[in-house]
Amino acid sequence: MFIRPRRNRKSAAIRDLVQETHLSTNDFIYPLFLLEDQSGSVPVASMPGINRLGLEPMLKEIEECLKLGVKAFDIFPVVDEKHKDKMATKSYDSNFFYLKALREIKEKFPGAAIMTDVAMDPYSSDGHDGIVNDRGEIVNDETLDILGKMALAQAETGIDTIGPSDMMDGRVGYIRDVLDENGFTNVSIMSYSAKYASAFYGPFRDALDSAPKSGDKKTYQMNPANQREALIEADLDVDEGADFLMVKPALAYLDVIKLLKDNYAQPIAAYNVSGEYAMVAAAAEKGWLNKEATMHEMLLSIKRAGADVILTYFAKEWAKLKNS
Ligand code: PBG
Repeated sequence: MFIRPRRNRKSAAIRDLVQETHLSTNDFIYPLFLLEDQSGSVPVASMPGINRLGLEPMLKEIEECLKLGVKAFDIFPVVDEKHKDKMATKSYDSNFFYLKALREIKEKFPGAAIMTDVAMDPYSSDGHDGIVNDRGEIVNDETLDILGKMALAQAETGIDTIGPSDMMDGRVGYIRDVLDENGFTNVSIMSYSAKYASAFYGPFRDALDSAPKSGDKKTYQMNPANQREALIEADLDVDEGADFLMVKPALAYLDVIKLLKDNYAQPIAAYNVSGEYAMVAAAAEKGWLNKEATMHEMLLSIKRAGADVILTYFAKEWAKLKNS
């Protein structure tokens, strides 16, 4: 045998030399769930280790993460049923707790990169990302107006990046126009470009109590069977001014991450979603998987596939291990 690949695996020192992919806390965005109750902390049953936090514990959480090197956060509101309506009006009410909290978070930690989510579902009495008409259809163009108002209200709090997760057609360009017309040319857009209609979002919908009241999201989120369709979505988002292209979920869609990485110069983000976290955390609780090793391998695989940025509920835990 002339070529023996095992020679490059013979010791940790050699393996480290030839390692192709490296994770860093710089890669991560840590998603957080914000409660209205300022001092509250409520565990998410289907995501062991993850809590919904009021503003006070969330400020502490962000401070701890910054010390560990995690500098980017994606903040989602947990909205009480009484605040929800058909048109998601609380989503752009500047007195609503979410928008007020964002302002405080950004004032306290100006150096942290704060991202927000644009979609109607957490605020909608129908639990859909867009407006539901009398026939139960999710109407596209009328929804854009609300998404624009939501994005503007979020930008006004001082946050850095808007994350449209709604999958309405034309929303990236629409939001870009609204932001620019109002002087927010520096607010970035991380578009959920290839967002699939996935069963892996279940625990997130538990955390936010945001599951659709009827029907499913298949008329706007993508069919998990399709890969080439991601190119149509990504082309549109690039033309409409997206700064980042996201693939979601991550682990079951590594081929799509690779496809976008090979076809676009924009940074590619991947969302390691709630169900991917829950699988590992639950199996680890049972003693069936080693949580730390599985987490690390999962994140490494997402980066190896081509993700420049990973949104992950493991961000803090990974950083803690790294710093230990
Ligand atoms: C809202 C939104 C969802 C997620 C992020 N933004 C849920 C959905 O579309 O139903 C899922 C995140 C996760 O599962 O971790 N549109």
